Amino acid sequence: MYYVGIDLGTSSVKLLLVNEKGKILNTVSKEYPLYFPNSGWCEQDPNDWWSACESGLKDLLKDYDASKVKGIGVGGQMHGLVILDEEDKVIRPCILWNDGRSEKEVEYLNKGIGKDKLSLYTANIAFAGFTAPKILWLKNNEEENFKRIKKIMLPKDYINYKLTGIHCTDYSDASGTLLLDVKNKCWSKEMLDICGINIKQLPKLYESYDVVGKAKEEIANKYGMKDVIVVGGAGDNAAAAIGTGTVTNGSCNISLGTSGTIFISNNEFKVDRFNSLHSFVHANGKYHLMGCILSAASCNRWFAEEILKTNNYSLLQENITEEMLGNNNIYFLPYLMGERSPINDTNARGSFIGIDMHNNQTDMYLSVLEGVAFAIRDSFEVAKDLGINIKESMICGGGSKSPLWRKIIANVLGIKLAIPISEEGPGYGGAMLAMVGDGIYPSVEQCAYELVNIKAYEIPKKELVERYEEKYLKYKKIYPSLKELFKEIK
Ligand code: XUL
Repeated sequence: MYYVGIDLGTSSVKLLLVNEKGKILNTVSKEYPLYFPNSGWCEQDPNDWWSACESGLKDLLKDYDASKVKGIGVGGQMHGLVILDEEDKVIRPCILWNDGRSEKEVEYLNKGIGKDKLSLYTANIAFAGFTAPKILWLKNNEEENFKRIKKIMLPKDYINYKLTGIHCTDYSDASGTLLLDVKNKCWSKEMLDICGINIKQLPKLYESYDVVGKAKEEIANKYGMKDVIVVGGAGDNAAAAIGTGTVTNGSCNISLGTSGTIFISNNEFKVDRFNSLHSFVHANGKYHLMGCILSAASCNRWFAEEILKTNNYSLLQENITEEMLGNNNIYFLPYLMGERSPINDTNARGSFIGIDMHNNQTDMYLSVLEGVAFAIRDSFEVAKDLGINIKESMICGGGSKSPLWRKIIANVLGIKLAIPISEEGPGYGGAMLAMVGDGIYPSVEQCAYELVNIKAYEIPKKELVERYEEKYLKYKKIYPSLKELFKEIK
């Protein structure tokens, strides 16, 4: 029996063919464009996602007996606003999770409605990337489009919709809309009223491992599949947490994708009193807290490919010796798309500080890798302040493939990192959810227990931790001293 896991990412979709024992048989990845129509804006065309999924499925299955595929599970980039009209056509490009255009709407929600009320209704406050502020932005700026909305969905729900014809979502992804009452797992009537939408426009809610339906016959037949179930799937971070086995109370996963996240699994509902961390439902039906930085592996990619004009990452990293770690005089703020956790500032921008004449390209590159690690540490510190004691974490995502970057992160956070055999976090998690939906495993926890194994650890070294501690204390002072300036220069 085979299962397909789909990770609908920001730069590409990754598809995995996995057997019921969790062995990955094939992987395929297809890229699609990102559009930046204004500074801090970021969009994608949902039709591009679907075309990429279709050609990905074709390539994934071409050398395999597709009739053995029993289930599909999709994990996807969160928060994006996908809207369809009466005729099921996409009304406008999707406004992505890292788009900062809804600054005014965020201010209205957090100050006008008030953080206390938002937290009471949804367990979260407004961040520009979340879906509700984007719906308000649409209402305020594209009234015609707003009036045409028949269906609202999240990016991976669009793929499930194309596969099954069913308008559905799952609780983990729905948590990031700011429309879900996270604690009680239902749409918040108050939030719907605030945004001027009705429940009929919203998808039906499922657990991530629930079967929502079957793939349409015409889709299944096209690829040689028969009778394939589709599960609710999950937001990519929850799916990645499943894929790395982050399912027990207090366990942690760090994802270094386009965004960078620190994800803490909780058996019980929890909310941080300042709402600096997101309080969301987990894909195992329980809960989690999460900090999200908007630019992680994207900083690495931007600096290498846009600035240095190379994609030879190992060459860039091979000049960086252990002696250089924590001894670099350059600091980098990774706010290329503004920042979410914990500063919630759409005006913040990327910055290099402290460069002098003796510095070279390698020092600047190292500061980029370190800056991302420090930004993740900011959310780690919030978790610590909440009394959450993280001693060890899983790590996944494209950036985690770099041993150097893993070393920097382990030492900046001062914790042991575990590297799973399958680094395909969200795609693997999606396939696991499909297996649970198909009844191969009785629970997500059992599935994780049987399938997820660790191949190596990154252990922090006392001396490096101390060097980074000193550097982090200085890093922490940079953003507060630039905050007002960012507003002026925007
Ligand atoms: C999480 C978030 C990002 C996207 C990226 O809140 O916005 O991690 O899900 O894919």
